[in-house]
Parts: sequence; structure tokens; C-alpha cells
Amino acid sequence: MLVAQISDTHLLSPESDQPAASLRADCLRRCVADINRQQPDAVIFTGDTVQHGQPEEYARLRELLAPLEAPLYLVPGNRDAKNEMRTAFSDYSYLPASGEFLHYAIEDYDTRLVGIDSTLTGERKGRFCEIRQAWLDKMLRAQPDRQTLLFIHHPPFDVGDHYVGGYRKPEEAEALEHIVERHPQVVGMLCGHVHWPVEREWGATQARIMPSVAVDVRKGIDETKARGRPIYLLHRVSRASGLVSRPRVADAEAS
Ligand SMILES: [Fe+2]
Repeated sequence: MLVAQISDTHLLSPESDQPAASLRADCLRRCVADINRQQPDAVIFTGDTVQHGQPEEYARLRELLAPLEAPLYLVPGNRDAKNEMRTAFSDYSYLPASGEFLHYAIEDYDTRLVGIDSTLTGERKGRFCEIRQAWLDKMLRAQPDRQTLLFIHHPPFDVGDHYVGGYRKPEEAEALEHIVERHPQVVGMLCGHVHWPVEREWGATQARIMPSVAVDVRKGIDETKARGRPIYLLHRVSRASGLVSRPRVADAEAS
């Protein structure tokens, strides 16, 4: 299975007078065009889709995502407004129509996709309360033999000096790690939020963080090489090799 990951587009309203408004829209537009050329089976969006959670920002998001050919699965980031997001994507039947959390499992592929909601309205840091802990544990216990890919906005681990104590309650990040450790069918966990590329082992599985699609707020990228071009990730998931990830420069000629 081939999965494309995008994250942290931080889109602004078309009416915004900030120069980043057109820049960020262009970054997503270029990624969508390039993703279509790669023909992934699914696209995962790990949150911070927009900057202020406003309906006009989500309208622009829908417009920019419209050309995407593969199914899109998204989880909220701390910049998203859950109710506005739910309204904007009300035709996405996998998103829970009610309840506090935008989390779900997708059963349509050989690899199971489980989206986790690490947000709480008004809170910048990650949360993974007992309700969510019980939900994830139950989800994973239900199909222990099925390879499973998790995705979430907030990474539940520190990244050097750049991202420390990303969860409001450290014990909640630890609880997430312990749940994942107990379920060896988890092939990996995809994250956003930090805007910085990371590959590491965590929870007895592989974790990935991707740079923000919005080039004006990304970090950890050699800009002399990237030259302002947006970057997203391609993940190959298989029984034989597990999770193999590579960055893709949206406008690169070679595929
Ligand atoms: Fe972000």
C-alpha cells in the first residue's frame, strides 16, 4: 500500500492580506498535483489544515483538495476547529457526525488505518485522555492480526530542543506509548505539528514526523536545496518491509 502524507498547511482565508495566504495555498496545490502523479492508495492529512479554524479557510481547503484523486483521511490539529472541520467535511462518512473526538478506523485496505484525535478545543498541546485511551486499546484489540498504521497530529515524544513536553499531561503521552507497545500489529505512527522531519523508533514501532507543507513555517529543511518547493511524505506499507518512508519534493521531475 502506498500512502501520501500531508500536514500543517496552515491555510489562510483568500481575503487575508497576509502574503502567506497565497503562498500556503500554492504549496498545497502543488502537493495535490504531485500526489496525483504518484497515484497513492490513500492520502493522510495530520492536522493544522488551516490557521484560524474559520469557515472561509475550510472553504479554501476544500477547493484546493478537490482535484485529489485518492481518498483523503484527516485528523485535526490544534489550529483546527473541530466543529467547523466537521461541517466542512460533512460528506466524509468516516468522520464521526457527533461526539467530542474526530477519531476512526478505516477498514478498506489490507493495512488498517486508524486516525487518532489528539486535540482539545482551546488547547495548544496534545491530549490523549482516558476515553481516547480506552477507544484506541479496544480498536487495536479487535483486530490483532491486521497490520495497522496510526496517524495523529501531536507526536507523543520529544524532538531534541525543538519540541519538549508536547502533551499537557505527560502521563497521557506515556499511556499512548504503552497501548501501542502492547499491539505489535502497529506498523507505524504518522505525526505532524512539529514542522520538522523526524524518523525514529517509538512504542516498539516506527514513528514519523513530517515538515509542514507550508514552506514559510517549516523547519529542519536545507532551503538551499529545497528552494522553496513544498515537501510531503510517501510511505510504502507492506507485510514484508513494514513502513518505508521517503520525502517527496512536490515539483521534482523524477518519480
Ligand atoms: Fe502546525
